[in-house]
Amino acid sequence: MRSKIVAGNWKMNKNLAETEALLTELAAKLPDTNAEVMVAPTFVNLASAVHSLESSTINAIAQNMHFAESGAYTGEISGDMLVSIGVDTVILGHSERRAYFGETDEILEKKVKAALAKNLRVMFCFGEELADRKSENHFKVVESQIKNALFSLDASAWSSIILAYEPVWAIGTGETASADQAQEMHAFIRKTITEAYNEEIANNVSILYGGSVKPANAEEIFSKPDVDGGLIGGAALVADNFVDIIKAI
Ligand code: PGA
Repeated sequence: MRSKIVAGNWKMNKNLAETEALLTELAAKLPDTNAEVMVAPTFVNLASAVHSLESSTINAIAQNMHFAESGAYTGEISGDMLVSIGVDTVILGHSERRAYFGETDEILEKKVKAALAKNLRVMFCFGEELADRKSENHFKVVESQIKNALFSLDASAWSSIILAYEPVWAIGTGETASADQAQEMHAFIRKTITEAYNEEIANNVSILYGGSVKPANAEEIFSKPDVDGGLIGGAALVADNFVDIIKAI
């Protein structure tokens, strides 16, 4: 059975004091839920976040990592470093990494394999741009993003994969895909995985939706059968909003 997940991607927001304040507030207000709740603070505060959340069920995860084991990669972070501070999950392939930092499918395939080799779970993000949707190429684009980075994995690796469909046109724009658009794409992703692997793997992988999820639209999006939760940006930076989104699942 796939699990429900609500994850907050804090991006390049919150200094140390702000991180600690938000974590304290979240831990205090966390509602009873069957969903796995995750937050991804900036690297510089990740170790202290792991420490602060020791007695909470909230899981602190990483926003990115490099594919190399170690070495001369100034400014980068390795999988081993994440594991060494108690992190078990890493976001890879976020559209901002692809757009601003040149991450290609080829690089992402290497990163996914490097993360899995360290027994990290991978939250793999992908999604079409507005032009792709307007030209009705969105299914093709999403299929190739998944195929290029993930379909060389062994079937057994899929138990460590979480997918996050994030249409680029809906990220940070206030525009959300409709619940039906999300459901349509998530069902398509499961069909694509069924064809490449099998139905069991397709049914067991959690597929999150991301892109302007907020308290007002979370319940409708989460009500769709193939939507297993959300990857939340802006609304995850305010405890009450994130808590309301968790309640919606
Ligand atoms: P948003 O970001 O919720 O601010 O649109 C989502 C994301 O980038 O993961």
